[in-house]
Amino acid sequence: MAKDIHKKPFDEGTKAKLSIFEDYLKEWLPVFLAKKEVIWRTINIYDFFAGPGYDSKGQKGTPMIIRDELTPYFDNIINKRLNVNLYLNEYSKAKKEKLEKRIEEDDLRPYSITIESLDFKEAFDKQFPSMAQKSCANLLFLDQNGVKHISEEVFKKIIELKTTDFLFFISSSTIKRFSEHPNIAQHIKLNPEEVEKTPYHKIHGLILDYYKNLIPPAKQYYLAPFSLKKNAGVYGLIFGSGHVLGIEKFLTTCWNIDPERGTANFDIDDDRIIQGQYDLFSGEVRKPKKVELFESELERKILNRELTTDREIYLYALTNGFIPAHIRKVINKLISEKKIDKCKLNLSSKVCKADSVITQIKLIYNGTIKHRMD
Ligand SMILES: C[S@@+](CC[C@H](N)C(=O)[O-])C[C@H]1O[C@@H](n2cnc3c(N)ncnc32)[C@H](O)[C@@H]1O
Repeated sequence: MAKDIHKKPFDEGTKAKLSIFEDYLKEWLPVFLAKKEVIWRTINIYDFFAGPGYDSKGQKGTPMIIRDELTPYFDNIINKRLNVNLYLNEYSKAKKEKLEKRIEEDDLRPYSITIESLDFKEAFDKQFPSMAQKSCANLLFLDQNGVKHISEEVFKKIIELKTTDFLFFISSSTIKRFSEHPNIAQHIKLNPEEVEKTPYHKIHGLILDYYKNLIPPAKQYYLAPFSLKKNAGVYGLIFGSGHVLGIEKFLTTCWNIDPERGTANFDIDDDRIIQGQYDLFSGEVRKPKKVELFESELERKILNRELTTDREIYLYALTNGFIPAHIRKVINKLISEKKIDKCKLNLSSKVCKADSVITQIKLIYNGTIKHRMD
């Protein structure tokens, strides 16, 4: 049986998870609540494994984080006549009662709160029609204890929803230890040999690939992982969005938390870099392998014309877990080395809009600009 994390103060891994959730929420809310023109009249936030609200020391859990982050938007919600709904579900009746009392303490708010005590699947199926309504935006937080709730069926239903971002938690260590156990194998179908040869700290990547393979090939959908070390185990968050802006914002959150690799709260690639440490050979500040590899691959792909426009570069970076700041470094280097012409690139989600102006990158050979058709 899973340990009850609310009986003790949250550990470092849980705090890291909550901090990613809070930072992402801070990015997500203004997109839907502070936009000049109203595109989504209904905004739904679902916390399906809500807990009682706090840990044993009064540290906020997800429902209280959501409640506090919504407070600055009261005027927007009223003035724009937005229909904002917060749905909280917690299976344990005792925890649900605590949560209800804590939430009722401040009941002057311009949005609705529903609190239920259902098994996740029942809650999800019951709420699904509201998520699937026209002109609504959804954020789903699925903070399960183990691994079993985000089944193939649930995942496929979520990715079919419009304007929906989700973040779910998964115990990667449990999968490593028990991948062949029928209780796990029936929910997540991983190849036991692959699991066997993948080290504990990399298992989250394998789980991400499993979910990626559930996305139909023609569908544009973005997933990103963040691995968390919690005591002796490795856990992970998986974020999903059908929109480039969603994935850019999540990746920005991850890079703020892990400026070295943007993907874990520990040295997942075993780079052993001490901050500010210099490389003995190049004399430059040492970079994680992952960043070095990305920079050299991006440079190679630009110079051999596999990537020719700002839109292609932007999407290449996001799908590989990098953000515009990383692209700019490579572009500036290529300009200063006179390998590409000076250019003004649009490295934001706007470049993916159907009517946006696309900028071509012009290569320079022997001091002359080489045009695409040359
Ligand atoms: C990791 S905790 C969530 C913590 C919470 N997000 C917070 O920040 O405090 C998982 C919660 O899910 C609840 N739970 C366990 N099984 C469940 C189920 N089948 N359906 C819904 N909730 C469940 C547990 O009681 C526990 O409070």
